Amino acid sequence: MGSLTNHQNQHDDKSTEQPHVVVIIVPLPAQGHLNQLMQLSCLITSYNIPVYYVGSAIHNRQAKVRINGLSPHDIAKIHFHDLPTPSFASPPPNPNSSNKFPSQLQPAFDATLSLRQPIATYLRDMSSKANRVVVIHDLLMAVVVQDVASIPNAESYVFNCISAFCQFSLNWENKGIPFPIEIPKELPSIEESTSEEIRNFLALQMEPLKYRAGDIYNTCRLTEAPYLDLLASEDETGNMKSWAIGPILPTKFSSANKSSKCLEWLDKQETKSVIYVSFGTTTSLSDEQIEELALGLEQSKQRFLWVLRDADKGNVFDGEVRRAKLPEGYEERVKGVGTVVRDWAPQPEILAHPSTGGFMSHCGWNSCIESIKMGVPIAAWPMHSDQPRNTVLITDILKIGLVVREWTRREELVKASTIENVVKRLMASEEGNEIRKRAEELGATVRQATEEGGMSRVEFDSFIVHITRDNDLLPISSAQHGTQLI
Ligand SMILES: *[C@@H]1O[C@H](CO)[C@@H](O)[C@H](O)[C@H]1NC(C)=O
Ligand SMILES: *[C@@H]1O[C@H](CO)[C@@H](O)[C@H](O)[C@H]1NC(C)=O
Repeated sequence: MGSLTNHQNQHDDKSTEQPHVVVIIVPLPAQGHLNQLMQLSCLITSYNIPVYYVGSAIHNRQAKVRINGLSPHDIAKIHFHDLPTPSFASPPPNPNSSNKFPSQLQPAFDATLSLRQPIATYLRDMSSKANRVVVIHDLLMAVVVQDVASIPNAESYVFNCISAFCQFSLNWENKGIPFPIEIPKELPSIEESTSEEIRNFLALQMEPLKYRAGDIYNTCRLTEAPYLDLLASEDETGNMKSWAIGPILPTKFSSANKSSKCLEWLDKQETKSVIYVSFGTTTSLSDEQIEELALGLEQSKQRFLWVLRDADKGNVFDGEVRRAKLPEGYEERVKGVGTVVRDWAPQPEILAHPSTGGFMSHCGWNSCIESIKMGVPIAAWPMHSDQPRNTVLITDILKIGLVVREWTRREELVKASTIENVVKRLMASEEGNEIRKRAEELGATVRQATEEGGMSRVEFDSFIVHITRDNDLLPISSAQHGTQLI
């Protein structure tokens, strides 16, 4: 076999050599995680490295139909591998629950635990067809990929789908030691923002996580250097590698859907006049809260684009979805000022649109990095999990947002007057203009970091060089015969 040349002919579409390195992507089946790992897959295929995206048929399909902003040309190069997954319960979310953690997804998460055996078989098969198998998995899929450790020519990396700030704060809290750096305010406890089931599921991953060869972060050193350094300092072996390669979402949208109603509507609005309102795929608001939000947006007299969708079920293709009611005559009343959308929306394109000047968000990490990269300030309304901590990063540390309601008041109904007030502050005040200016400046530097020669791009290139290194590559023939590497 020839020497490894993948990294020497980056972006050369004509290269059709036998794969020396293949990358296997193993996502957690939740939209924000499927999506980030799809973005990573596209980025890796653009370096002419074969990528295999592995999961249940349902979740692979979900990842493909909800493509936001990715190039169809890149996606066409990804190999999707459906694994047999036992059927799992897919209950609807409970909009009335005061704890907003999406417990309805837990059966789908638990079902992934049965993938260990099929993934082990698959990895062994792939390891006989390539010199090196590189597994990149969600932190919450460490149990499932742990057999990597028994395959001589395979290695695994964790792709972190949350902020370095959140990851660092969780790790330090788990160790029960004080934070080594100053944090602007007391952080919400993890018990308050999660479920016991997900904490147990996370605990299962800790032992197998030790087999990983390194960590990849979907964040940028420009925004999170102190936390990335602290995370790196946790490695006592000195062997663990880490790369901060993000935010990896594209900023040029070759797949932009020109016929999207959202973008058509935005085209008719004035520059930076619109607040985009969306709470992601895991938030289900009560009828009362939706009514207050509707009235608050209306009373603010600011332009708004509101994506009103219920939270995902474990199987997003399964049955009816609750269609939340709006106040009588609402859409007629706000016509020309605001619009309510119930379909899947092209969020990155919306945030990149010149008419968008603010984002009311639950602060899931996907939404945060999209907003950071597009330079849009956030009105933060965290719901669960890492979101309250991301809110601290966005509002207190990066200072590119305002809080809609404090976490300590999470069980109270947020009144229309509160919503009206925060929308006015962000969209129509001197304070809001300053926050927007900071967000725009940060966006410009972060975008630059992910372009050729930028900080995050250099780290990604070094990751590619690392996984395609040829110093200890087995020839394919000996890998096939199961020769031990070490
Ligand atoms: C939530 O509460 C409303 C009344 O406020 C009720 O009509 C609805 O059925 C409840 N939904 C669930 C899923 O419990
Ligand atoms: C484009 O948007 C329209 C309207 O929102 C939708 O019906 C259509 O399926 C979208 N096409 C693609 C390729 O996403």
